[in-house]
Amino acid sequence: MTMTWEELKARCEACEDCALYRTRQRNVFGVGNEKATLLFVGEAPGADEDLSGIPFVGKAGQLFDQFLSAVDIDRDQVYIANILKCRPPRNRDPEPSEQEACFAHLREQIRLIKPKLIVCLGRIAAMRLIREDYRITKEHGSWVKKGEFEITAVYHPSALLRDVEKREAMLADMTVIAKKWKSLAQELP
Ligand code: URA
Repeated sequence: MTMTWEELKARCEACEDCALYRTRQRNVFGVGNEKATLLFVGEAPGADEDLSGIPFVGKAGQLFDQFLSAVDIDRDQVYIANILKCRPPRNRDPEPSEQEACFAHLREQIRLIKPKLIVCLGRIAAMRLIREDYRITKEHGSWVKKGEFEITAVYHPSALLRDVEKREAMLADMTVIAKKWKSLAQELP
């Protein structure tokens, strides 16, 4: 699959590759700078995202925005997408078969964006993009090099809503992410 942005968006809009198309309101493709050097990847749309078609706009998304602002990252400068483009009913974990069906879309987005840094938001994205047995509690904030990308994972914003104690670690991880990302901009000619 080698597609343009327009072809890929149209493909996702019309996608029936797994059963989630039956229950979705909207396909949640992704937002941001299509040439971003920093890509955030979440898990799957929730109820608010399913209605709006935009990732991370609900309660978890608003908390995520606060962390972006805290480290001086503008949402418009980065790209934000999810492992799944359609909402799993009742926000259950994505099934492996759904992740498999949808992954080709994220792969194409990554090919088009060509980010330098990829940040997994939560364990589902980390297990898909870093390692199947990734342990978010132990490993969040550590970086791995995969091909042309440097990848890390941080706590999922929903986990930070449930457990306020994790927010300090999130701020520390986001501070490193912002620093790495800003130093990339200085490398450009
Ligand atoms: N949680 C996610 O993982 N992604 C969203 O877009 C919203 C909530």
